[in-house]
Amino acid sequence: PAEATGVAHAKVILLGEHAVVHGAPAIALPVHGLTLTATVTRTDRPLWIDSVLYRGPIASAPELLAAPLTAITETLRHVGAPATGLAVRIDGEIPAERGLGSSAAVAAAIATAVARSHGVELDDAARFDLTQAAERVAHGRPSGLDARSVVSETPVWFQAGTARALPSALGGVFVIADTGLHGRTREAVGDVAALRTAEPDRVAGILTRIREHTEAAVTDLAADDRASLGARMSDTHALLRELTVSNAQLDRLVASATAAGALGAKLTGGGRGGCVLALADTDEIAAQVAAAMRANGAERTWMLHPEDIAA
Ligand code: PMV
Repeated sequence: PAEATGVAHAKVILLGEHAVVHGAPAIALPVHGLTLTATVTRTDRPLWIDSVLYRGPIASAPELLAAPLTAITETLRHVGAPATGLAVRIDGEIPAERGLGSSAAVAAAIATAVARSHGVELDDAARFDLTQAAERVAHGRPSGLDARSVVSETPVWFQAGTARALPSALGGVFVIADTGLHGRTREAVGDVAALRTAEPDRVAGILTRIREHTEAAVTDLAADDRASLGARMSDTHALLRELTVSNAQLDRLVASATAAGALGAKLTGGGRGGCVLALADTDEIAAQVAAAMRANGAERTWMLHPEDIAA
């Protein structure tokens, strides 16, 4: 084909971040309304990339693009094609470094598009492996949660490297609010590990409570028990605070969401920046929650309706 595209979407972690690093489960939600598209055109020139960050030959692309470049070259290798003759354009609306999965979405979209440009439709396993190869370049030791979630139609249950689709009958509206601050996942994960070594019993207790909320949320999703899920989200935020992965701005947005009528709110992802996830019962309350978080410094907000998180 002369032109091929691949699409992936953003994700948010509903419950279980940080605990998932220590063997507990996590639940991620796809954000179907926030997408990223890779468009690949066959050319007779060297490999070329076209993105907001850089436009030019891949050979002189900045280090910042090392992960997407890995997605391109590994996918070409996977389909047995020579590493020349492609122009890759990346268009999207997923902000980077906010815990929304932008790096995995870029890699998944590129892998899909590059394979299609050579007439190959990747299966889930191949696309996951190629996305993970890029994520290792971007993040060191990615759990795989993002690589699964950014192409999933449904909520994802993730534990010990294994993912499965999670049914959801949840109504209500999630509100995502961006602090405007880069998340600091790697640093936060390291600090939790250090805290666990220093105070094993206390941290084990916190991780157990996060795990219990995550496990019980499966029933909340299936039964559309928004009040219960909201309470679990707020309690989990308090537990994440105890793990030292929140910060003043995240706490402020969570408090303002709750004061504006949210059923619950928490930081989402690695923490110390990035985004807050709040749950509201109705569109009207969601609008109030979003306005309150913007008034308290959120750079932008997104609404997540039931059809955005479930197929
Ligand atoms: O910030 P994100 O969305 O990449 O999420 C990090 C989630 C952690 O549990 C903190 C780390 C991990 O690798 O699972």
